Amino acid sequence: MKTDELIVVGIGPGPVKYLTQEARDLLLATERVYFRFSGHPVYTWLREQGKECLSFDSLYMQDGMTYERLFLTIDQALIRAAKKSGRAVYALPGNPYVFELTPKWLKLMCEQERMKLRIVPAMSFLDELYVELEVDPEAGLQILNASSFSYYGDYPFTEKLGLLIGQVGLPQGKSPRGKKDNVQALTKCLLAKFPRSHRVTLIWSTGMPDYQNRRVTVVLKDLPKQARFTKHLATLYVPPVKPPWEWVDNASHAAKQRAKKKRPKRARATRSTRT
Ligand SMILES: C[S@@+](CC[C@H](N)C(=O)[O-])C[C@H]1O[C@@H](n2cnc3c(N)ncnc32)[C@H](O)[C@@H]1O
Repeated sequence: MKTDELIVVGIGPGPVKYLTQEARDLLLATERVYFRFSGHPVYTWLREQGKECLSFDSLYMQDGMTYERLFLTIDQALIRAAKKSGRAVYALPGNPYVFELTPKWLKLMCEQERMKLRIVPAMSFLDELYVELEVDPEAGLQILNASSFSYYGDYPFTEKLGLLIGQVGLPQGKSPRGKKDNVQALTKCLLAKFPRSHRVTLIWSTGMPDYQNRRVTVVLKDLPKQARFTKHLATLYVPPVKPPWEWVDNASHAAKQRAKKKRPKRARATRSTRT
């Protein structure tokens, strides 16, 4: 018996040039593609290629809609579509496993339904921003969601490592139609550990049709004022208060090294007699 299949494909952070060859081939070989939302250049491009593109945009506008209900409704619709046609393709911006809930829930649902789930990875907004902000995550980087700060209050993070905070400016709370954004709460949490004059960089997309990135650097206390002008897909970079290597207490490190040299080599001798 043939198993039904659901394919979740990442479509990159925006410009069509960032589509991987694998994603491009898959999309062009599919007649109907589901999108979480239509405001992505790949949606427009794929329609121009004569494909049927369906989006879940209207769900976001429904009264009383919560994120939880929204994502559950999307996942249920995808499972139904895959059962009906034997295969369904769902396109998600960026990497489908970065800042996206639906694939994680789909994994459980597909297991229950004995359906095959394939996730096609892609370039994420993170890859783009590492280059634009000249940040190498190797130096230590905390990647967090701005909404988690307002949701959990005292969200744990350290000022000793940089922060890359996604979903800045989204409505606070459980609904995509909430009136208040998450920036005030985020700024308040950051001010508990960083100085008011700490310089942070806000980076966002101009959205359709151009999908260009814009950025501005401001002092932390002014972040709420600035965030009002960023309409789409905003991320905040907060550098550490000083570079990671400056946290190392070199004087005490050198003292420990000297003490080690003076210590008799008893431990090593004991071990060698045992072997
Ligand atoms: C729901 S997440 C989707 C991320 C996507 N899965 C990815 O891997 O790129 C959307 C968030 O990504 C970030 N983002 C996407 N495109 C961006 C851009 N051009 N500039 C800055 N942040 C961006 C923003 O923080 C935005 O709120």
